[in-house]
Amino acid sequence: MAQLFVRAAALGSKGRSAQNVAWLARGFSSADATSSQSAAAEPPKLVVFGGRGFVGSHVCAEAVNSGLNVVGVSRGGTPPLSRDSWVGSVTWARGNALEPQSFSRHLEGADAVVSCIGAFGTQAEMLKLNGAANVSLIEAAKAAGVKRFVYVSAHIPNIPGIDVLLGGYIRGKQAAEEALRAHFPATGVALRPGAIYGDRVVSTNLTLPLGYAFRPIEALLQRMGPQAARSAAEIPLVGAAFVPPVSVEVVARVAVRAAMDPAVPGGVIDVWQLAAEAK
Ligand SMILES: NC(=O)c1ccc[n+]([C@@H]2O[C@H](COP(=O)([O-])OP(=O)(O)OC[C@H]3O[C@@H](n4cnc5c(N)ncnc54)[C@H](OP(=O)(O)O)[C@@H]3O)[C@@H](O)[C@H]2O)c1
Repeated sequence: MAQLFVRAAALGSKGRSAQNVAWLARGFSSADATSSQSAAAEPPKLVVFGGRGFVGSHVCAEAVNSGLNVVGVSRGGTPPLSRDSWVGSVTWARGNALEPQSFSRHLEGADAVVSCIGAFGTQAEMLKLNGAANVSLIEAAKAAGVKRFVYVSAHIPNIPGIDVLLGGYIRGKQAAEEALRAHFPATGVALRPGAIYGDRVVSTNLTLPLGYAFRPIEALLQRMGPQAARSAAEIPLVGAAFVPPVSVEVVARVAVRAAMDPAVPGGVIDVWQLAAEAK
């Protein structure tokens, strides 16, 4: 453990926050005798499902920078298009969340899982990929003895009739959150961001800087103050405009911390708590 603490401290000196170093140390010391012995030899293992996607790749980057042993899983098993150096520190693996036999070996020895699997599409596709795929991961992680599970869910805005368009998406998210509560009541955390902004790498030579569109909205809502923005967000239809967007870096930081810090309680981290993290 001392060895790991030194490593965490070294990361801190390279720019990681003192807060992160504290949770790294807490996470290591919280393990039982057997796993703390193995933890003395290597860092905790975090498995990121959807690790090559927009949110998942930022979660992998944050986890690598926090000194974790990171496995990024997706159906293709390939790394993301980003050329950043952290990509080489992740083990990229193939696995389909809907087929437990395809990913169960990646869960062996895992301390925590972050799922960034979700999609839009037909109602049936949305129900399957937001719901069934994540329920399958949550059940498999529980069976494999994984200690903590973080699910990137979503804030559903107050728009009349939204169910007609996004019913499968909404019910899928609800099913996954329900499975998380059932199987990881004290150590499962669902993040509910609204719009997530940040650089989206769409090809090896094209990155869309989506932050330019969202950053001014985020700043404006911060100036309104959380209470006023929250009340405005309750107004049907127009209220959706007052739901704060959050940067992908903040989502990734909160996700990794929720996955590794035993001090983060099970439950939901909502869009307002995420917005507060951005300040
Ligand atoms: N982006 C936003 O603004 C936003 C806002 C609120 C909430 N969210 C939520 O955040 C999560 C991540 O969103 P994102 O924008 O990062 O999505 P994304 O870029 O489309 O990434 C999704 C990832 O999941 C993988 N995947 C899909 N189906 C899979 C399966 N059956 N088994 C294994 N891997 C699978 C995909 O890779 P392969 O295709 O290679 O498998 C991809 O890496 C989603 O749950 C989404 O609902 C996103």
